[in-house]
Amino acid sequence: MATGATMQEQREKPNSERGGVVVLDFGGQYTQLIARRIREQQVFSAILPCSSSLDEIRKLEPVGLVLSGGPSSVYDANAPKCDPQILAMGLPVLGICYGMQWITHALGGKVEKAERREYGSAQLTIENEHGNGESLLFAGAPSSLRVWNSHGDHVRALPPGFRTVGTTENAVAAVEDPQRRIYAVEFHPEVKHTQQGTEILRNFLFRVCKAERKWSGEAFIEETAAAIRKKVGTNRAICALSGGVDSTVAAVLVHRAIGDRLTNVFVNTGLLRKNEFEQTLEMLRDRLGLRVIGVDASERFLEQLKGVTDPEEKRRRIGREFIAVFAEEARKLQRGEAHGEIGYLVQGTLYPDVIESVSLKGPSATIKTHHNVGGLPEKMPFALVEPLRDLFKDEVRRIGKDLGLPHEILSKHPFPGPGLAVRLLGEVTLDHLNTLREADAVVVEEIRRAGLYDKVWQAFAVLLPVRSVGVMGDGRTYGLTVAVRVVESEDAMTADWVRLPGDVLERISTRIVNEVSGVTRVVYDVSSKPPGTIEWE
Ligand code: XMP
Repeated sequence: MATGATMQEQREKPNSERGGVVVLDFGGQYTQLIARRIREQQVFSAILPCSSSLDEIRKLEPVGLVLSGGPSSVYDANAPKCDPQILAMGLPVLGICYGMQWITHALGGKVEKAERREYGSAQLTIENEHGNGESLLFAGAPSSLRVWNSHGDHVRALPPGFRTVGTTENAVAAVEDPQRRIYAVEFHPEVKHTQQGTEILRNFLFRVCKAERKWSGEAFIEETAAAIRKKVGTNRAICALSGGVDSTVAAVLVHRAIGDRLTNVFVNTGLLRKNEFEQTLEMLRDRLGLRVIGVDASERFLEQLKGVTDPEEKRRRIGREFIAVFAEEARKLQRGEAHGEIGYLVQGTLYPDVIESVSLKGPSATIKTHHNVGGLPEKMPFALVEPLRDLFKDEVRRIGKDLGLPHEILSKHPFPGPGLAVRLLGEVTLDHLNTLREADAVVVEEIRRAGLYDKVWQAFAVLLPVRSVGVMGDGRTYGLTVAVRVVESEDAMTADWVRLPGDVLERISTRIVNEVSGVTRVVYDVSSKPPGTIEWE
């Protein structure tokens, strides 16, 4: 993913983002969820790596800090750490799981390695009778709660000034130093399985941090547009549109800020779905009023893919060609625009894309190279505008809705940057692409007709270059195979195949064999992720 000067670094903080909460990331699996639960309370929240400096934290002008969970033990040789001074910034702090252990360790308490990892549900007993009043964190909570745990170490001795407010059968589960406004819990309040988890987070936000509810979709749009206007000034911006939700929302937001000084480029790679190029172009231009240059580069992409069967090589070549096409368009524009250079590149980068580049351990092992159509190289002479980089997919959809984007775009299933090339096994030929486009259109049509399109994560066809024998009429056939893939998922990290009703499968299969010439057999993919992946290549 591209780095460089980002919106985050360059923009002034919009008002609704001041007074938010910074989540410092120790690499926990629920870090993103914490940030999002906070935003659900209309309080802005951003995640920073735990190694961030006090200055980086101060720049966000937070009213509180949350220290996330993480997979390490504080005694590991390279256990992640924060600067201990964050505990003396005068800001309220909530440590969760590893966050609690790190606080205990940093302030002079003792953490011990547990015999076995505690995972799953536990009963928390809260002791809310204290000489100087009840625990603000558990205000209004019953004295016993089911909570969700996932940790290895335990707190054995508290740091000076702390008191225990909650215990589970095995461990000290909640501690606090109300004087310094430092709170810590061993369980995960951000997870739905924790009873009263939302109330606990709310208590931290509103009773402890005294945060104000001022972050909302509309405020985000207004303030982000104002910040973009200020940043881009009289300059111009360019954006690579893919027709997907993220780049479209980013473009509409920037268009709202600077109007037609934003030019969008939409490339037909020849790897798009049936009629997708024409329909998307029309939607972007006519219904959304964006200024879009449509570039038909299908032949160039096909040429690049000739004779290539290796999935990673396909991805690499497509990524490279995409950059070449985009750079040419950008150069043409630079030459053509008499009034003002293009100084900015708009990208629909989302938070999950960002975290890969700042995570503690670096990007996880590459299973597939993701060439996001927006993932352009650093070398381009543009400063980045990434207005969505603090948000999650469903938050982007909500912003898109507030911006008036049609349901068609907002509900569109995700589509990989390399397009049909990774859904067509073996060499990519025009013939096979056209066969796949027809089969895919049948799958999507039938899924829509069954009222399932908005309920599933993705539904599509895959073309297998495997021939099998069939019989049609009185004749023998020997044709290709189509695999149908329909999955449900929350975030594409894990996925399960959808138990489609038999009659829907039947209609899909009959129609494909009857309507798509060259295909004689249809199979249904019943692999979950893991161990499978959603796409076949
Ligand atoms: P996998 O196949 O890794 O896919 O389980 C997870 C999700 O990512 C989408 N995907 C991509 N998206 N560029 C993208 O923008 C890509 O190269 C790419 N490859 C996979 C996939 O459709 C699924 O939703």
